[in-house]
Amino acid sequence: MNNFTFYSPTYFAFGKNTEKDAAKYVKRFGGTKVLIHYGGGSVKKSGLYDTVVNALNAEAIPFVELGGVKPNPRSGLVYEGIDLCRKENVDFILAIGGGSAIDSAKAIAAGVKYDGDFWDFYSGKEVTKALPVGTILTIAAAGSEGSPNSVITKEEGMLKRGAAGEPLRPVFSILNPEFTCTLPPYQTAAGATDIMVHVIERYFTNTKEVEITDRLCEAVLKTMIKETPRVIADPNHYDARANIMWAGMIAHNNICGVGREQDWSSHGIEHELSAFYDVAHGAGLAVITPAWMKFVMKKNMNKFVQFANRVWDVDIDFEHPEATAYEGIYRFQRFLKLIGMPTTFAELGAKEEDIKAMASHMGISEDNLLGSYVKLNVDDIEAIYRLAL
Ligand code: NZQ
Ligand code: ZN
Repeated sequence: MNNFTFYSPTYFAFGKNTEKDAAKYVKRFGGTKVLIHYGGGSVKKSGLYDTVVNALNAEAIPFVELGGVKPNPRSGLVYEGIDLCRKENVDFILAIGGGSAIDSAKAIAAGVKYDGDFWDFYSGKEVTKALPVGTILTIAAAGSEGSPNSVITKEEGMLKRGAAGEPLRPVFSILNPEFTCTLPPYQTAAGATDIMVHVIERYFTNTKEVEITDRLCEAVLKTMIKETPRVIADPNHYDARANIMWAGMIAHNNICGVGREQDWSSHGIEHELSAFYDVAHGAGLAVITPAWMKFVMKKNMNKFVQFANRVWDVDIDFEHPEATAYEGIYRFQRFLKLIGMPTTFAELGAKEEDIKAMASHMGISEDNLLGSYVKLNVDDIEAIYRLAL
């Protein structure tokens, strides 16, 4: 196991009715003027927006609001949010919604405290200062409620890029699984796929002797394999929703990833798909991750037999380990189909003729290869896209 530091200070409130305490948490974490930031309207339909507004009013906390965050959130709204916060002297941002609303809130939070262009953080500069962000999560997926990351798309050139920095971890996150019951099956499944791939990006590592994090990863994956079909069949199954929602946090606050090299190729390759075609991130991962597995398995089988055996209950064929490895990938892909995810370019609406452009758009060079389990150059990335056709 490698050396690591781990500091995850987010305060979590989990369960039914926890959203009612939102204003108390804002106060506890120093907010005196709030920006409420949300997406396209699901939070108004569910009544969550009204609950939060009433709670802020009851605590006499003034607020302004900015809605309209799109899935795959855009830089234009971030600039608008930064201006609004400065003009209104906002000192706390409350994101209500999914990863997109939360990531947009994080971008605004970092931008307000920075004299330059906030996009610098999405071009490699670490975030060292940000306004505090609180979240009320309505979809189990991105894990942004516990992560120090944010992903934004710059309209100019459709660049989808990530920023990172400890101040981006939310100071509190409220998770009431009941709010996830209104998610359409496709969004539920896309979220579940994202959760599983957050673990997979950490599981496939060359770091040896990491049994504790291997076992944590396997626990999250097994939980998702059990609970996802239950919520697809019965969207109002509270306990299954609850297990998935907490799995989403555990999958990405890095408790499963400390002390080990991580890969993140599937995410990098997928981000081009969502930048080019504006598809749901989890759906893009359902297409890319099995293709990535098929490609890298041939170069490094190390972890694949364990993945097949421990996660997918495949008996190990010691004479033909590659058959065991393939069976694990096959079962993963079959599971994704079963929960309603696309697994090919065609099903996603992506086009073969864009493969070269997507692969070169990533900025990969021989000095800057992608991933770590197997390091990928541009030709490898193209080959992975082709395996997903
Ligand atoms: O905009 P509204 O009306 O709220 O509708 C949303 C949106 O259309 C809807 N939705 C959310 N909660 C709902 C609901 N509909 C009905 N009932 C509910 N309870 O679902 C749609 C998707 O929402 P979005 O926030 O985009 O989903 P998600 O949480 O999957 O976030 C995706 C974004 O997160 C990024 C992705 O790249 C993508 O841009 N990621 C962020 C990460 C991070 N910050 O750590 C890591 C991830 O790997 C990921 O890259
Ligand atoms: Zn993801």
